[in-house]
Amino acid sequence: MIPPEFIQTLLGRIDLVDLIGQSVPLKKAGVNYVARCPFHQEKTPSFSVSPARQFFHCFGCGASGNAISFVMQHRGAGFVDAVQQLADLAGLPVPHSSTATPTPPPRPHLEALEQISHHYQQALQQHPRALSYITRRGIKAETTHTFRLGYAPPGWHGLTHTFPHFPTALLIEIGMVIQQEGGGVHDRFRDRLMFPIQNSRGQIIGFGGRILDQGEPKYLNSPETPLFEKGQELYGWPQARQALRQNHEMLVVEGYMDVISLSQAGLGHVVATLGTAITEFQVKRLLRSTDRLVFAFDGDNAGRKAALRAMERVLPWFEEGKDIAFLFFPEGEDPDSFVRQQGAAALQEKVSQALPLSSFVMDHLSEGLQRHLPEGQGQFLKRAQTLLGSLRSPWLTFALKKRMAEWLDLSLPQLDQFLGSTKTPERSPTRTPIASPLTSRLPPTTLARQLIACLMADPALVHQIGMPLEDPLATTPEERQLFPFADHLRHQDITPSLPLLIEHFRGKPEENTLDSILAKEFIPLSETPSEELAVVYRDGLARWGQQIRQREIDQWLEKARHQPLTPDEQARLQALVLTRPFGGG
Ligand code: UTP
Ligand code: MN
Repeated sequence: MIPPEFIQTLLGRIDLVDLIGQSVPLKKAGVNYVARCPFHQEKTPSFSVSPARQFFHCFGCGASGNAISFVMQHRGAGFVDAVQQLADLAGLPVPHSSTATPTPPPRPHLEALEQISHHYQQALQQHPRALSYITRRGIKAETTHTFRLGYAPPGWHGLTHTFPHFPTALLIEIGMVIQQEGGGVHDRFRDRLMFPIQNSRGQIIGFGGRILDQGEPKYLNSPETPLFEKGQELYGWPQARQALRQNHEMLVVEGYMDVISLSQAGLGHVVATLGTAITEFQVKRLLRSTDRLVFAFDGDNAGRKAALRAMERVLPWFEEGKDIAFLFFPEGEDPDSFVRQQGAAALQEKVSQALPLSSFVMDHLSEGLQRHLPEGQGQFLKRAQTLLGSLRSPWLTFALKKRMAEWLDLSLPQLDQFLGSTKTPERSPTRTPIASPLTSRLPPTTLARQLIACLMADPALVHQIGMPLEDPLATTPEERQLFPFADHLRHQDITPSLPLLIEHFRGKPEENTLDSILAKEFIPLSETPSEELAVVYRDGLARWGQQIRQREIDQWLEKARHQPLTPDEQARLQALVLTRPFGGG
């Protein structure tokens, strides 16, 4: 008997990407890694490993799981054997009694970042130099407050002096101090204007710090930590989401200052990436929140490059009904300087005239090519082929092909013929595979499956929102398993991680259900911000309740067709019919 606490510690010590990378050549694609699946024969990579969730999944054969599952499936090891192998790797002795190894929850990390941010906010008010910088840049007190701007005073040991009770290891883990050679630590951020970076729940998970005068680097950012993955966060997201209620588009800019400045000018529907190229994860999050995305880039070379990168990342996720556009500023200008010189109305006007994705694509394809020379046409065709391979929107594919054909002065069938020598590839081999081909192979989704998926994505929902009712008339395994699954979660002291959950249900009837949900419903839900997930779950619970009620009504009505109901049954039926469905519609 291996204590579950040990499994948790072990899974926390092993990096799945490293582990799998030892035997499978992994390639980074967005936030995940992809490879050709080691569990089945395939030409294009369907196997994906999520470093954030410490979880692998194959969209081709459906193999999925955590580090233990990988060793079991890949090396044909038994469970205990797999644990032993991993423990050896991690240098941990396997306990066989129930000697518990406590694991610290990440709470103290968030709490420390929150307190540090508060400290920086106060420091800002006490340092005239920092305040005058803020004023010089036209930032109002209210904006400072909205974005919780602060100031890290000069000096190397500010944090350890201000927070003597914070363990040094913790300060290192959250990236706020740096280990010095020969022992000791010093503050990472000194004499900088501080921009706290918040996750989608509004919790502070890192900082960007701008130098007040000239100097390098202009911006210093927190390193990636277990709480902070740059490719997953968007600066200004919690504030922008508020503003999105009145606006139906989202602006994506390059700098923290652009976000702040636009927001202050009344264009609050704006976010920035964290000094890195936008990732597919960020694109998906943005496209879930709005139908129109406008990317704004500086007019310099770096801006052009970043725009191309963004184009590549949005293409696979473009769907009918979405509208994506690109906006370029003249050299030396950015959204911040523009809005301060010309005002919000002028910027909004510019935004409404931004270059549509399809036009940007065409510009890119034909850039530098001579349309009337066979060489130029050949180049164009080659670029077009690669690009079409990354699309999944049939409409965009068609629309672009039409314009490509026009550019080449061909008919559509002629173009298809040229492209067709390799057939329009379903997807480019370097791209993270998309789950859609799988949908047809899997059972259709049901309410019970979606509720289980919500709980897998965030087990704390059973406490925050509530338990599903038990359905005495359940017909499918999922329907029968929903309640016991939720009940299991409810009785855990610590919110179990996904790998741990999978571990718990290994070999139990739920295992199959969880596997197939992981391959389907879980994927979009796991990336849904927590407040939205809570809404989905709450709504799902209400529908679930209605479904149970309706089933019982149907049962009595069916019975009544064959034989009279007893007075008790009649009363029950009446009560059911008269009950207002809870949770509204
Ligand atoms: P910019 O230099 O365009 O930022 O870099 P900005 O917001 O216009 O800066 P101001 O107006 O001079 O204050 C855009 C983003 O790139 C990242 C930051 O996230 C910044 O907001 N960056 C830039 C860094 O991470 N490090 C740097 O040294 C510079
Ligand atoms: Mn700027």
